[in-house]
Amino acid sequence: MIKINPVRALSDNIIWVISDDSTGAAIAVDPGDPAPAINFFRENNLIPAGILITHHHMDHTGGIGTIAGAYTIPVYGPSGEDIPGVTVKLKDGDSFRFEGISMDFSVIETPGHTRGHIVYVAEGETGSHIFTGDTLFTGGCGRIFEGTGEEMFQSLSRIASMPVDTLVYPAHDYIRDNFRFIAAVDPGNPEAGEFIKKDKALRDDGKLSIPTTLEFELMVNPFLRCAVNAVHGSVETWAGKSFNSAVDVFISLRSWKNIF
Ligand SMILES: [Fe+2]
Repeated sequence: MIKINPVRALSDNIIWVISDDSTGAAIAVDPGDPAPAINFFRENNLIPAGILITHHHMDHTGGIGTIAGAYTIPVYGPSGEDIPGVTVKLKDGDSFRFEGISMDFSVIETPGHTRGHIVYVAEGETGSHIFTGDTLFTGGCGRIFEGTGEEMFQSLSRIASMPVDTLVYPAHDYIRDNFRFIAAVDPGNPEAGEFIKKDKALRDDGKLSIPTTLEFELMVNPFLRCAVNAVHGSVETWAGKSFNSAVDVFISLRSWKNIF
Protein backbone atom coordinates (compact mmCIF):
# COMPACT_ATOMS: atom_id res chain seq x y z
CA MET A 1 0.00 0.00 0.00
CA ILE A 2 1.27 3.43 -0.94
CA LYS A 3 1.22 6.13 1.73
CA ILE A 4 1.84 9.83 1.15
CA ASN A 5 2.99 11.38 4.38
CA PRO A 6 3.30 15.10 5.18
CA VAL A 7 6.52 15.99 6.99
CA ARG A 8 6.54 19.58 8.16
CA ALA A 9 9.77 21.52 7.69
CA LEU A 10 11.10 25.07 8.02
CA SER A 11 8.30 27.55 8.72
CA ASP A 12 5.52 26.30 6.44
CA ASN A 13 7.04 23.77 4.03
CA ILE A 14 5.65 20.29 3.62
CA ILE A 15 8.06 17.56 2.54
CA TRP A 16 5.87 14.82 1.06
CA VAL A 17 7.30 11.37 1.75
CA ILE A 18 5.86 8.71 -0.55
CA SER A 19 6.32 5.26 0.94
CA ASP A 20 5.37 1.75 -0.06
CA ASP A 21 4.41 -0.48 2.88
CA SER A 22 5.16 -3.68 1.07
CA THR A 23 8.85 -2.81 0.49
CA GLY A 24 9.63 0.02 2.92
CA ALA A 25 10.96 2.12 0.01
CA ALA A 26 10.38 5.87 0.22
CA ILE A 27 10.86 9.06 -1.79
CA ALA A 28 11.03 12.62 -0.47
CA VAL A 29 9.59 15.48 -2.50
CA ASP A 30 11.30 18.87 -2.09
CA PRO A 31 13.25 18.21 1.13
CA GLY A 32 14.24 21.77 1.99
CA ASP A 33 15.60 20.67 5.35
CA PRO A 34 17.30 17.28 5.78
CA ALA A 35 16.61 16.60 9.47
CA PRO A 36 12.81 16.19 9.40
CA ALA A 37 13.00 13.91 6.35
CA ILE A 38 15.78 11.74 7.78
CA ASN A 39 14.00 11.52 11.14
CA PHE A 40 10.83 10.42 9.37
CA PHE A 41 12.71 7.74 7.41
CA ARG A 42 14.33 6.41 10.62
CA GLU A 43 11.21 6.49 12.78
CA ASN A 44 9.27 4.56 10.16
CA ASN A 45 12.07 2.15 9.12
CA LEU A 46 11.94 3.42 5.55
CA ILE A 47 14.63 2.90 2.94
CA PRO A 48 15.07 6.07 0.87
CA ALA A 49 14.93 5.37 -2.87
CA GLY A 50 15.13 8.87 -4.29
CA ILE A 51 14.42 12.59 -4.10
CA LEU A 52 12.13 14.63 -6.36
CA ILE A 53 12.80 18.36 -6.75
CA THR A 54 10.33 20.80 -8.35
CA HIS A 55 12.51 23.93 -8.59
CA HIS A 56 15.73 25.54 -7.42
CA HIS A 57 14.60 27.51 -4.34
CA MET A 58 16.57 26.68 -1.21
CA ASP A 59 13.52 25.84 0.91
CA HIS A 60 12.97 22.92 -1.51
CA THR A 61 16.57 21.88 -2.20
CA GLY A 62 18.37 22.49 1.12
CA GLY A 63 18.24 18.82 2.14
CA ILE A 64 19.62 17.31 -1.07
CA GLY A 65 23.29 17.17 -0.07
CA THR A 66 22.79 15.61 3.35
CA ILE A 67 20.11 13.10 2.34
CA ALA A 68 21.65 11.98 -0.95
CA GLY A 69 25.05 11.78 0.77
CA ALA A 70 23.70 9.61 3.59
CA TYR A 71 21.79 7.18 1.38
CA THR A 72 23.36 7.39 -2.11
CA ILE A 73 20.10 7.81 -3.98
CA PRO A 74 19.16 9.48 -7.28
CA VAL A 75 17.93 13.07 -7.22
CA TYR A 76 15.41 14.01 -9.92
CA GLY A 77 14.94 17.65 -10.88
CA PRO A 78 14.14 20.03 -13.72
CA SER A 79 16.44 20.11 -16.75
CA GLY A 80 15.80 23.85 -17.05
CA GLU A 81 17.47 24.75 -13.75
CA ASP A 82 20.99 24.30 -12.45
CA ILE A 83 20.53 22.61 -9.07
CA PRO A 84 23.60 21.17 -7.32
CA GLY A 85 23.12 17.48 -6.50
CA VAL A 86 20.45 16.74 -9.12
CA THR A 87 21.50 13.56 -10.94
CA VAL A 88 18.53 13.00 -13.28
CA LYS A 89 17.37 16.03 -15.28
CA LEU A 90 13.76 15.87 -16.43
CA LYS A 91 11.78 17.46 -19.24
CA ASP A 92 8.09 17.74 -19.99
CA GLY A 93 6.60 14.30 -20.70
CA ASP A 94 9.42 12.28 -19.13
CA SER A 95 8.27 9.27 -17.10
CA PHE A 96 10.03 6.96 -14.65
CA ARG A 97 9.58 4.50 -11.77
CA PHE A 98 11.46 3.71 -8.56
CA GLU A 99 12.33 0.21 -7.52
CA GLY A 100 10.06 -0.74 -4.62
CA ILE A 101 7.47 2.00 -5.22
CA SER A 102 4.40 0.83 -7.16
CA MET A 103 3.69 4.13 -8.91
CA ASP A 104 4.30 5.61 -12.35
CA PHE A 105 5.78 9.11 -12.28
CA SER A 106 5.62 11.68 -15.06
CA VAL A 107 6.65 15.30 -15.48
CA ILE A 108 4.84 18.47 -16.52
CA GLU A 109 6.85 21.66 -17.02
CA THR A 110 5.12 24.57 -15.28
CA PRO A 111 7.15 27.76 -15.80
CA GLY A 112 6.03 30.85 -13.92
CA HIS A 113 7.17 30.70 -10.29
CA THR A 114 10.62 29.85 -11.62
CA ARG A 115 11.65 29.44 -15.24
CA GLY A 116 12.25 25.68 -15.07
CA HIS A 117 9.67 24.63 -12.45
CA ILE A 118 8.25 21.13 -12.93
CA VAL A 119 5.45 19.21 -11.21
CA TYR A 120 5.27 15.46 -10.73
CA VAL A 121 2.25 13.30 -11.53
CA ALA A 122 2.19 9.96 -9.71
CA GLU A 123 -0.31 7.27 -10.69
CA GLY A 124 -0.88 4.13 -8.68
CA GLU A 125 -3.37 2.04 -6.73
CA THR A 126 -4.40 5.11 -4.71
CA GLY A 127 -5.25 7.06 -7.89
CA SER A 128 -3.71 10.15 -9.45
CA HIS A 129 -1.57 12.51 -7.41
CA ILE A 130 0.19 15.69 -8.38
CA PHE A 131 3.09 17.23 -6.48
CA THR A 132 2.78 20.87 -7.41
CA GLY A 133 5.75 22.47 -5.61
CA ASP A 134 5.23 26.25 -5.66
CA THR A 135 2.97 26.32 -8.74
CA LEU A 136 -0.46 25.41 -7.31
CA PHE A 137 -1.30 25.70 -3.60
CA THR A 138 -4.46 24.79 -1.71
CA GLY A 139 -6.64 27.78 -2.58
CA GLY A 140 -3.80 29.72 -4.22
CA CYS A 141 -0.79 29.75 -6.54
CA GLY A 142 2.89 30.64 -6.36
CA ARG A 143 4.31 34.09 -6.92
CA ILE A 144 5.58 34.78 -10.42
CA PHE A 145 9.30 35.34 -9.87
CA GLU A 146 10.98 34.30 -13.13
CA GLY A 147 8.31 33.57 -15.73
CA THR A 148 5.51 35.70 -17.16
CA GLY A 149 1.89 35.90 -16.07
CA GLU A 150 0.90 34.20 -19.32
CA GLU A 151 3.26 31.30 -18.60
CA MET A 152 1.95 30.84 -15.06
CA PHE A 153 -1.64 30.96 -16.33
CA GLN A 154 -0.83 28.28 -18.93
CA SER A 155 0.97 26.14 -16.33
CA LEU A 156 -2.03 26.27 -13.99
CA SER A 157 -4.39 25.56 -16.90
CA ARG A 158 -2.46 22.38 -17.72
CA ILE A 159 -2.73 21.19 -14.13
CA ALA A 160 -6.43 22.13 -14.09
CA SER A 161 -7.09 19.95 -17.13
CA MET A 162 -6.09 16.77 -15.30
CA PRO A 163 -8.82 14.38 -14.04
CA VAL A 164 -10.85 16.09 -11.31
CA ASP A 165 -10.22 13.35 -8.75
CA THR A 166 -6.46 14.03 -8.88
CA LEU A 167 -5.12 14.74 -5.39
CA VAL A 168 -3.10 17.95 -5.07
CA TYR A 169 0.04 18.03 -2.90
CA PRO A 170 1.64 21.50 -2.70
CA ALA A 171 4.99 22.17 -1.02
CA HIS A 172 3.66 24.76 1.44
CA ASP A 173 0.76 25.07 3.85
CA TYR A 174 -0.55 28.52 2.94
CA ILE A 175 -4.19 27.66 3.64
CA ARG A 176 -5.01 30.42 6.12
CA ASP A 177 -3.54 33.22 3.99
CA ASN A 178 -5.06 31.87 0.81
CA PHE A 179 -8.56 31.48 2.23
CA ARG A 180 -8.41 34.96 3.78
CA PHE A 181 -7.78 36.18 0.23
CA ILE A 182 -10.60 34.02 -1.16
CA ALA A 183 -12.95 35.62 1.38
CA ALA A 184 -12.10 38.99 -0.21
CA VAL A 185 -12.19 37.91 -3.87
CA ASP A 186 -15.07 35.45 -3.80
CA PRO A 187 -16.90 36.09 -0.52
CA GLY A 188 -20.02 34.11 -1.44
CA ASN A 189 -18.14 30.88 -2.16
CA PRO A 190 -19.88 28.26 0.00
CA GLU A 191 -17.27 25.50 -0.40
CA ALA A 192 -14.47 27.86 0.66
CA GLY A 193 -16.37 28.96 3.77
CA GLU A 194 -17.09 25.37 4.76
CA PHE A 195 -13.49 24.28 4.14
CA ILE A 196 -11.88 26.94 6.32
CA LYS A 197 -14.13 25.98 9.26
CA LYS A 198 -13.17 22.33 8.91
CA ASP A 199 -9.51 23.30 8.49
CA LYS A 200 -9.55 25.19 11.79
CA ALA A 201 -10.94 22.17 13.62
CA LEU A 202 -8.37 19.84 12.04
CA ARG A 203 -5.53 22.31 12.68
CA ASP A 204 -6.49 22.61 16.36
CA ASP A 205 -6.12 18.83 16.39
CA GLY A 206 -2.65 19.03 14.79
CA LYS A 207 -3.89 17.72 11.44
CA LEU A 208 -3.63 18.99 7.88
CA SER A 209 -6.43 19.55 5.32
CA ILE A 210 -4.07 18.70 2.44
CA PRO A 211 -4.32 17.04 -0.07
CA THR A 212 -7.44 18.43 -1.67
CA THR A 213 -8.83 17.24 -4.98
CA LEU A 214 -8.51 19.16 -8.20
CA GLU A 215 -12.33 19.22 -8.25
CA PHE A 216 -12.24 21.16 -4.96
CA GLU A 217 -9.56 23.54 -6.23
CA LEU A 218 -11.70 24.26 -9.30
CA MET A 219 -14.56 25.20 -6.94
CA VAL A 220 -12.59 27.49 -4.61
CA ASN A 221 -9.18 28.50 -5.97
CA PRO A 222 -9.59 31.94 -7.59
CA PHE A 223 -6.44 31.47 -9.66
CA LEU A 224 -8.20 28.59 -11.46
CA ARG A 225 -11.46 30.55 -11.68
CA CYS A 226 -10.52 33.67 -13.62
CA ALA A 227 -13.30 32.99 -16.16
CA VAL A 228 -15.93 32.78 -13.40
CA ASN A 229 -18.06 35.93 -13.08
CA ALA A 230 -17.63 36.31 -9.32
CA VAL A 231 -13.82 36.34 -9.60
CA HIS A 232 -13.68 38.34 -12.83
CA GLY A 233 -16.00 41.01 -11.33
CA SER A 234 -14.04 41.33 -8.07
CA VAL A 235 -10.75 41.71 -9.91
CA GLU A 236 -12.23 44.40 -12.16
CA THR A 237 -13.49 46.28 -9.11
CA TRP A 238 -10.09 46.02 -7.42
CA ALA A 239 -8.19 47.08 -10.55
CA GLY A 240 -10.69 49.78 -11.51
CA LYS A 241 -10.82 48.63 -15.13
CA SER A 242 -12.38 45.91 -17.25
CA PHE A 243 -10.68 42.80 -18.61
CA ASN A 244 -11.54 40.85 -21.75
CA SER A 245 -9.64 37.64 -21.08
CA ALA A 246 -9.12 35.19 -18.24
CA VAL A 247 -5.35 35.61 -18.50
CA ASP A 248 -5.62 39.36 -17.93
CA VAL A 249 -7.87 38.68 -14.93
CA PHE A 250 -5.28 36.20 -13.67
CA ILE A 251 -2.37 38.65 -13.95
CA SER A 252 -4.30 41.32 -12.07
CA LEU A 253 -5.50 38.81 -9.46
CA ARG A 254 -1.88 37.75 -8.84
CA SER A 255 -0.88 41.43 -8.39
CA TRP A 256 -3.71 41.86 -5.91
CA LYS A 257 -2.60 38.84 -3.88
CA ASN A 258 1.02 40.11 -3.88
CA ILE A 259 0.00 43.16 -1.82
CA PHE A 260 -2.96 41.66 0.07
FE1 LIG B 1 9.71 28.55 -4.56
